[in-house]
Amino acid sequence: MSSARHNRVVILDFGSQTTQLIARRVREAGVYCEIHPFSFPAERLAELAPKAIIFSGGPASVYGEGAPTIGRHVFDLGVPILGICYGVQLTTKLLGGTVEQAAEREYGAATVRVEEATGVFARFQVGEELDVWMSHGDRITALPEGFAAIGKNPSTPACAVANPERRIYGLQFHPEVTHTKHGQAIIEAFLFDVAGINADWSPASFVEEAIAQVEATVPAGEQVVLGLSGGVDSSVAAVLCQRALGDRLTCIFVDNGLLRHQEATSVVRMFRDHFNLEVVAVDAADEFLAGLAGVTDPEQKRKFIGATFIDVFEREARKVGNAKWLAQGTLYPDVIESVPVHGSSALIKSHHNVGGLPERMQLKLIEPLRELFKDEVRAAGVALGLPKETLGRHPFPGPGLAVRCVGEITRERLEVLRAADRIFIDELRAAGLYDKVWQAFCVLLPVRTVGVMGDERTYDEVIAVRAIHSSDGMTADWARLPYELLATVSNRIINEVKGVNRVVYDIASKPPATIEWE
Ligand code: XMP
Repeated sequence: MSSARHNRVVILDFGSQTTQLIARRVREAGVYCEIHPFSFPAERLAELAPKAIIFSGGPASVYGEGAPTIGRHVFDLGVPILGICYGVQLTTKLLGGTVEQAAEREYGAATVRVEEATGVFARFQVGEELDVWMSHGDRITALPEGFAAIGKNPSTPACAVANPERRIYGLQFHPEVTHTKHGQAIIEAFLFDVAGINADWSPASFVEEAIAQVEATVPAGEQVVLGLSGGVDSSVAAVLCQRALGDRLTCIFVDNGLLRHQEATSVVRMFRDHFNLEVVAVDAADEFLAGLAGVTDPEQKRKFIGATFIDVFEREARKVGNAKWLAQGTLYPDVIESVPVHGSSALIKSHHNVGGLPERMQLKLIEPLRELFKDEVRAAGVALGLPKETLGRHPFPGPGLAVRCVGEITRERLEVLRAADRIFIDELRAAGLYDKVWQAFCVLLPVRTVGVMGDERTYDEVIAVRAIHSSDGMTADWARLPYELLATVSNRIINEVKGVNRVVYDIASKPPATIEWE
């Protein structure tokens, strides 16, 4: 692992929705960290030699049936511990204190008074009131031996607890969420003042190590293939691997006929000309569009596109002599072993990737970005010299415009959608708002409505415009775009795109809607 030489913090996850946020805050402080489930085996934990351990929050009550717990071994390591919410309640219970159900669940903004400016509060003054975010049902009523409350408020007498001798700290609130104003200072006080860790990690230092690691992993003479989409993850993975492997890397770009305006040409040109990558561009539009003819069911579209992508990719990959490896831009959130708290989630939409391909072709996997969060991938991309436009690109789904062309997919309808989408994105950029939203696109609806153009009656389809704010695509809120901008977009689409006479704006959030329409 490229991180082996770095100081490491381990976050034990008890099922909180904000566990990944804790990790991001620690990394922002320049300290490498990993998330593992609370049940992570003792030997493996010891092997990782963490410089500190953080217990996440979680939805359970420490006295609940089957509540997640840990063994004494974690405390016996003698490394500094920070328990957050459920984490501090569990610590309290395990070390001999008492936790009780509070009369009322405390949820939302609160203030905490600093009682002792020590440990995680060392960077504050006694008496200072901190704005924090609380979310807990239980609370600590008796502290274990050796502990003192260093932060209080009227409804929660032990908001922050400390055992300086054993370097164990606990917070009843969430320092990792932005609503806790000085959260980063608290986390940094824990990492640097309490645990004495040196900040020795950054996405840029990661890049050099990752290149060396890819170089060391792939034996001389063996070839690597990579599916390049032009999206952030595969682009960064491609450039990083090329730095390590030179022409032993072959990127395969599949044009499925479902891409945006001039996307195929611009992606291939940039990587070939600017980055000197070996890119095989496959024009498979006919194959995809022929198979999609007459298909209107969203899941059927997705299944067909996923399967066909694998077929096309495999065919091309087999042409690369001695291809033994598949490089992928897998990110950290995809590999974290999650704590199943509410059971496994149901299939909402089948996602499309090269699943199954490594087994079929007996390829070994290289995933150079598997330790990184998305924003860190962007930072790594900057270090690798990738242009801002590539790194700031909105996510684009694997099945492409197919899931935005509601109803039947024909070349004509795709052209209509492409033209409308191009106008919307151009206007969004011109208004300086492209980078302010997480994703923006048009959807073509198979609904005909009546209009008048000049003296003529029209009977054309509808374009839905969608723009959302999100941090990870799991939840989303519709963007309040200025009316002026929407007016320009609507006018231009209706005037310039033949086949559209009405534009609507999608004001549905996720949940209950999804970001894409299919
Ligand atoms: P939904 O529509 O499920 O989308 O709210 C969440 C995010 O995922 C993207 N998306 C996909 N990405 N392959 C991908 O690589 C897919 O099949 C796929 N489907 C949806 C979507 O654009 C949004 O950013």
